[in-house]
Amino acid sequence: MKKLTSRQVAVQALIEIEEGARANDILASSLASTGEGLSARDRGFVTELVQGTTRMRRAIDHVLQPFLRRKLDPDVRAALRMGTHQLIHLGTPPHAAVNDTVAATAKRATGLVNAVLRKVSSVHPEWPNEATRYSYPDWIWDLFVNTWGQDGRASLIAMNSPERPSPRPDGYIQGRASRWVIDEVDNASPEGGSIVDLCAAPGGKTTALGAQWISPVANEIDRSRAENLLGVVSRFRPGTAVVISDGTSAPFRDGSLDAVLVDAPCSGLGALGRRSDARWHISEAAINRLVSTQTALLDEAFRMLRPGGVLSYSVCTVTRQETIEVSEGFGASHRELLNLALEGSHWRPLSQGGVVLPHDFGTDGMAMFQWKRQ
Ligand SMILES: C[S@@+](CC[C@H](N)C(=O)[O-])C[C@H]1O[C@@H](n2cnc3c(N)ncnc32)[C@H](O)[C@@H]1O
Repeated sequence: MKKLTSRQVAVQALIEIEEGARANDILASSLASTGEGLSARDRGFVTELVQGTTRMRRAIDHVLQPFLRRKLDPDVRAALRMGTHQLIHLGTPPHAAVNDTVAATAKRATGLVNAVLRKVSSVHPEWPNEATRYSYPDWIWDLFVNTWGQDGRASLIAMNSPERPSPRPDGYIQGRASRWVIDEVDNASPEGGSIVDLCAAPGGKTTALGAQWISPVANEIDRSRAENLLGVVSRFRPGTAVVISDGTSAPFRDGSLDAVLVDAPCSGLGALGRRSDARWHISEAAINRLVSTQTALLDEAFRMLRPGGVLSYSVCTVTRQETIEVSEGFGASHRELLNLALEGSHWRPLSQGGVVLPHDFGTDGMAMFQWKRQ
């Protein structure tokens, strides 16, 4: 088979992402198959081209639009976006960005790609608004700025240059904000005991739990995610049981657990840096549905908790609905819950819990709340 260049691998991945594949999944599988012969440096370059072009799609299309007259085939559009990303965001010298992109383009379109990228290379973009410049849908831009003001704007900009999560001492790659959640879970229950991680896949938080939790239980609703979870816990946290169940009606007895972690499904708006395509398919309408699931999961966690047990709620988003409103609504409907203060100094106070915004430490945005059942 003919060896593909970095840019050819990137163009193929971009076409699949445009068709609906998840960027992180497709990148991993492309690098494992078509990118097999690439050096480590080239693999890093493919990653930057694919993630960056996907993330900055709105800004790129704004720059390209004036030079396009007809609808483009997917491979040509992907090549043009990738070349434009290099020219306007990566500062690649024009001859390299243009020539190498043309070399990665199908013969029938080399003339077009060459002509358009040459024009793009002499453009000084003018942006109609910041949502276009920083490449977010208007609703996400407005939501962050209306909720957090200048901090919201800084958060969005920070998510365009996301953290490279580092390996933990055991080799599992995990962002720091997720580790801070587990620090709070561990610190609130130094004596350990029984714990259920109610929404556990892919297993990052379960496998980070402190040694005081002898046999954690990792619960997950989705069967195929639970199968991957099983592989992860066997490798990083042997002795963990995996249960497949809907956490809103989970198979654990009333009042039986020392601790429950609800790391709930959420809009993920604090993790847009790590998931480059997410901003283009998350919908505002989904937030209300997520809020009801989050509340149902917390109610179920409360049912399973023994008096004196600790309930931790975390989400990698920073919307008011999924943080303040869920936690305050839940606290108000369970008077026997005592709010616990978070210990880590990285948390900004948020209602009775805490939040880390993406630009605070260059991590995912994360919010957390903790209660003790009286
Ligand atoms: C934010 S992710 C959890 C991340 C995980 N705690 C970690 O740190 O690796 C949320 C997970 O909850 C699962 N989930 C969604 N709805 C659920 C439900 N009703 N019951 C249990 N799990 C659910 C999703 O499939 C997803 O795997």
